[in-house]
Amino acid sequence: MANAALKLISTIFILVFLSSFIIPGHDCQEFSRKLSKKEFGLKKQKLSHLHFYFHDIVSGRNPTAVRVASAAMTNTSSSSFGAMFMMDDPLTVGPNMTSKLVGRAQGIYASADLDELGLLMVLNFAFVEGKYNGSTLSVLGRNMVFSAVREMPIVGGSGLFRFARGYAQAKTHYANLQTGDAIVEYNVYVFHY
Ligand SMILES: *[C@@H]1O[C@H](CO)[C@@H](O)[C@H](O)[C@H]1NC(C)=O
Ligand SMILES: *[C@@H]1O[C@H](CO)[C@@H](O)[C@H](O)[C@H]1NC(C)=O
Ligand SMILES: *[C@@H]1O[C@H](CO)[C@@H](O)[C@H](O)[C@H]1NC(C)=O
Repeated sequence: MANAALKLISTIFILVFLSSFIIPGHDCQEFSRKLSKKEFGLKKQKLSHLHFYFHDIVSGRNPTAVRVASAAMTNTSSSSFGAMFMMDDPLTVGPNMTSKLVGRAQGIYASADLDELGLLMVLNFAFVEGKYNGSTLSVLGRNMVFSAVREMPIVGGSGLFRFARGYAQAKTHYANLQTGDAIVEYNVYVFHY
């Protein structure tokens, strides 16, 4: 009887001892651990469609995109290869600049094609509208600006768009080839939680 009790106690002791290795706590110096999606507050994955207009103003006294770099020999390429712009472009719900602001496109576009006008787009859509205020979506893509519809990957997001992935389709709504100003319609399809 005493023997059995001793056995039980030593078994419990061993289990407790081992579990401290097998189930790491929050406070120990662990590098990684598995989480369940539920435990982390991730429920059903959602698919959202966002629609807005992007205003790229390079001319006038209040441009929203400025050239920050260019190749030493800018006239060697018809595509201005090497030119790089930093933008903080307003995003509005309608094509008119005076329509409701839903966010801003902040980042870089750069001429990355030697022959045609093809841009490398590296930017964040930073939203300010309603529940999306403060959330962002990150775009990393190729934008052949003279194509009717350009598709760019959404590679991630923050806030409401944590774990986001999807794609954006850009369609030029208006472009002034003299000034370089443009309004681009965006349709964004994104999976998130
Ligand atoms: C490029 O610019 C330089 C200096 O302005 C000029 O000498 C040259 O002819 C230009 N080349 C072309 C292809 O326009
Ligand atoms: C944009 O809206 C303003 C004010 O509502 C209006 O005066 C202007 O004509 C509109 N522009 C276009 C291109 O529709
Ligand atoms: C968005 O959030 C910021 C910071 O919390 C706040 O100052 C701003 O008024 C909000 N904008 C809208 C349109 O709700």
